[in-house]
Amino acid sequence: MNRFSKSLTTCLILFIALVCLPARTSAQSERNSLAQTPPMGWNSWNKFQCNVSEDLIKSVADAMATNSMKEAGYEFVVIDDCWQVKRDADGNIVADPQRFPSGLKALADYIHGKGLKFGIYSDAGTLTCAGRPASQGHEYQDALQYGKWGVDYLKYDWCHTETRNALEAYTTMSNALLATGRPIVFSICEWGTAKPWLWGAGVGNLWRTTGDISDKWSSHKKWADGSCCELGMLEILDLQVGLESFSGPGHWNDPDMLEVGNGGMTTPEYRAHFSFWALLAAPLLSGNDVRSMSAETKEILLNKEVIAVDQDSLGRQGRRISKNGDREVWARPLKDGGRAVILFNRGTSEAEVAVTWEQLAYPGHLSATVRDLWDHKDRGSFSGSYKTKVAPHSVVMVKVLP
Ligand code: GLA
Repeated sequence: MNRFSKSLTTCLILFIALVCLPARTSAQSERNSLAQTPPMGWNSWNKFQCNVSEDLIKSVADAMATNSMKEAGYEFVVIDDCWQVKRDADGNIVADPQRFPSGLKALADYIHGKGLKFGIYSDAGTLTCAGRPASQGHEYQDALQYGKWGVDYLKYDWCHTETRNALEAYTTMSNALLATGRPIVFSICEWGTAKPWLWGAGVGNLWRTTGDISDKWSSHKKWADGSCCELGMLEILDLQVGLESFSGPGHWNDPDMLEVGNGGMTTPEYRAHFSFWALLAAPLLSGNDVRSMSAETKEILLNKEVIAVDQDSLGRQGRRISKNGDREVWARPLKDGGRAVILFNRGTSEAEVAVTWEQLAYPGHLSATVRDLWDHKDRGSFSGSYKTKVAPHSVVMVKVLP
């Protein structure tokens, strides 16, 4: 190689380093600048499955804008599966003209007009889980379409992907979304199969860690094909243990959407469900009919003190710090140096549950205030530890602050 071609090669390498690499880094940091706290909103699937329409979505947006949900931080209105029916001659994805006669651009405008954001659903395979056309091979075309409609959030599922590589599939759609120039939160819905917590940061803003939640406290029911198993709230909770370190601002573990208000659990059980999702820094996507909520459901979904734990700007996911049979303690460090603590009784009779300051990584000699986040009362100042009786299938959730 002569001197001229050497310097040409050096120039070329420098050019690639200066132009191409920063582009990738800025793409990643752009991705990571979204969802600095876990996304909050509503998703149609848990309650309505395929029964979605523009009338439903508009009435949900109306309700959220006026029933204090928007004020509490619920922001995204997400249509899950079944809004799409086919592709047109040019391969563009087409929304069901019967159910969405005004089209998705008009729906997005409506939702934005309410001060809310618009989310949509697709899938990395050939078909969605409900058998509708999905995005494989149409990633950039679909992303551009979403950008034109005014989509702010994409949930991207994993059905009918055959042998497709998950990292490749999600990176392709991630890059397609970035190429639209529109900030779109990217929700990886891969069910934890390919351990998305290992590679999801920088690709998406949240990733499902498990299969679908069912509206049950606990379930070991096998699926119809004999495979294992339907997941209740407790099974999902237990599967979060050990994943704490992968979550943080812009990239969250997603233990699936909320079932609060759907009828399969008691009020204390739903309170526990909501408390744990907040402690886990989970996305809070309500999955009930928010147009007609009972007082109990509202009290849970609108508990500002528990929501503040979920949205704490330190962004550290909580973890289980002790387990003694049915008695457990979970804790999460907060930005102000306090700890959100859940004293949990899985059992069927009342139990006393205790936490020591040392378990919370505080010096044992300190005094700390304890505030009950469900009763909204200060319990006083305690030295070294706190204990309380916890009802069956219930939590006591407190904030401890030295
Ligand atoms: C999968 C997802 C669910 C839901 C359905 C829709 O099961 O995990 O959250 O989106 O598909 O078909």
